[in-house]
Order: sequence, then structure tokens, then C-alpha cells
Amino acid sequence: MNPSSNLVLVGPMGAGKSTIGRRLAEHYGLAFHDLDHEIEERTGATVRLIFELEGEAGFRRRETQVLRELLDGGGRLVATGGGSVLAAENREVLARRGFVVFLAATVPQQLKRLERDKKRPLLAGSDRRARLEALAAEREPLYREVADLVVPGEDLSVANAARRIADALDGVWSRPATESAA
Ligand code: S3P
Repeated sequence: MNPSSNLVLVGPMGAGKSTIGRRLAEHYGLAFHDLDHEIEERTGATVRLIFELEGEAGFRRRETQVLRELLDGGGRLVATGGGSVLAAENREVLARRGFVVFLAATVPQQLKRLERDKKRPLLAGSDRRARLEALAAEREPLYREVADLVVPGEDLSVANAARRIADALDGVWSRPATESAA
């Protein structure tokens, strides 16, 4: 059992990390932080523009730095970006500083939910299905490696999904009372 005061959601694009994360943060009285949003605020540029100007490598460097900063604090719920498990140093920080929930989603679910998306640079090409399948093959083992709890992708409302996850968390997450929300 991992006694971290931070909850972290990992999982692929379109899994609902941000929407469900917001609900879960409310439920547990945690400060909600969306990693991509924090990167954009600090940089003053969208994720898409950062990819354009600095490439994926530049984005990943910023992602590592902001993830580390966010998890330095306690009492937080951090919704990560789908690729934040790629770097070993990120996985190490996630495992050490957060109780990690892997929010899974199938490729058909992702395709449906991201149908109109224009913000995600990794989906800019033509064959989204193949792209998402390749990303899943590469990343799924990494999500599982860091996860303290795995939640299967289901077609539920945000409220119901959050309730289901909270029920599961209540059985496994021992949240220390020492660190307060920041
Ligand atoms: C990415 C996922 C995105 C964002 C960036 C890269 C990825 O976040 O960080 O576009 O590598 O899967 P979401 O998972 O919130 O879409």
C-alpha cells in the first residue's frame, strides 16, 4: 500500500483523466492540477505550439520539470498527460510521490472521445487508429508498472466513473493526514 497524500491519474489520451480527476479532487478535498495546463501556464504557449517549436523532446523536458514540481507538494490530485510515463525518472517520481491510478481506455473509446480533437499533436496524422494502437502497445506496460490501482475503461458518465473509482480507492488508498492541500 502506498501512503502518498497525492493522487495521480495516468493513462492514454481520452481516458478522462482531467474531467474525472476534477471530480475526484472535489470528493477528496485535494487541489486539482492538470499537468498539460500547468505546462501551458508556465510556458505561455499551448502544448501544440511547444511541440512545433521545441519538438516532442522539448515538451517532455518541460513535462518532467513541472511534474516534479507539482509532486513536491502534498494534498494534490495531478492529472498527467498520456506520455508522462515514458521517462524512467518520471515513473520514479510518480511511484514515490503519488498514489497512482491508471485510468484505462480502449482504442475505440479513444477514437470516439477524441473525434473532434485538434489540440493533440500526436494525433495530427491521418491514421489515428494505428497511431493510438502503437502508443497503447508501447505505454500500457508503463502505466501498469507505476499503477497502484488499475481502472478499466468503461462508458460511464464522469460522475459515475468518479464514484466507481472513489469506491475502489477507499479500499486501497491510505492517505496520510500529515500533508495538507496546496
Ligand atoms: C500526450 C498526451 C496529451 C499531451 C500531449 C502528449 C501523449 O495529454 O500531454 O499532447 O503523449 O499521449 P492528454 O493525455 O491529457 O491528452
